[in-house]
Amino acid sequence: MTSTEAWQNTADSFIDPQQRNQVLNWLKDRVPSSRIQHILGVEKMADDLAIDHQLDRTKAQIAGLMHDLAKYFHPQILLETAIAEKLPLDDILKNHPHLLHADISAVVAREEFGIEDREVLNAIANHTLGKPEMSPLSCVVFLADTLEPGRGNTDELEALRALCYQNLYRAVWKTCDYTLNYLIKTSSVIHPRAVLTRNWALQQHQNKVQLGQKR
Ligand SMILES: [Fe+2]
Ligand SMILES: [Fe+2]
Repeated sequence: MTSTEAWQNTADSFIDPQQRNQVLNWLKDRVPSSRIQHILGVEKMADDLAIDHQLDRTKAQIAGLMHDLAKYFHPQILLETAIAEKLPLDDILKNHPHLLHADISAVVAREEFGIEDREVLNAIANHTLGKPEMSPLSCVVFLADTLEPGRGNTDELEALRALCYQNLYRAVWKTCDYTLNYLIKTSSVIHPRAVLTRNWALQQHQNKVQLGQKR
C-alpha cells in the first residue's frame, strides 16, 4: 500500500473523497512522485496543526493538498497567469517567476477545482513568502510547507516543529529566520515579502508576550 492510499483510507480525511482523488490524479500527471509525498506531508501536518490550534480541519487539508498545484508550471505560464490575474509584479518576481507558484496554485485551485473560500485560497497563495496579517490558517500551511517530515530531521527542524505546537507566531518568525538564513547562505535572492512576514510574525509574538498570552 502506498502512503497515498494509507492516508486516503483513514477516517481523518475531511475532504470530499471524489475531489481529493481528482486533485491527486491531476497532480500525478504534473509533478514527480517525490513532490506528491511532500504535498501529502503538508496536508497531514497542516491538519495536525489545525487540530492543535483549533482551526477548520477541512480548510487546512484542502489548502495543504492544493498548495503546490503550480509548482512545476513553466516560468512563462506563471508570469502570463500572474499578468492575467493582475497580481502585483516586481523585478524579483519577473526574474524569478518560480516565486509566483504559490499565488498561481491558488488560481488553479479556484479555476480547476472550484475552491472559492478566500481563507483557503489565501493560505495556498501565502505558503512560500507568507504575508503580514496572514490568518492562522495561512500560518499553519506556511509552517507545514517548510517543516513537514519529508524536509529532514535535523535538530533545528525538530525544534521548529515542536515550536509549532507551542507558539504559532514565534514558530512563523523562527521558520522565516531559518529560511532567510538558508537563502543568505546559498547566495539566493530574498523577496521583501519574506522579510515583511518575518517582522510581522516577530511583532505578533512580542505583542502576545506583552499581553501575557501564551500562544
Ligand atoms: Fe511551494
Ligand atoms: Fe510545498
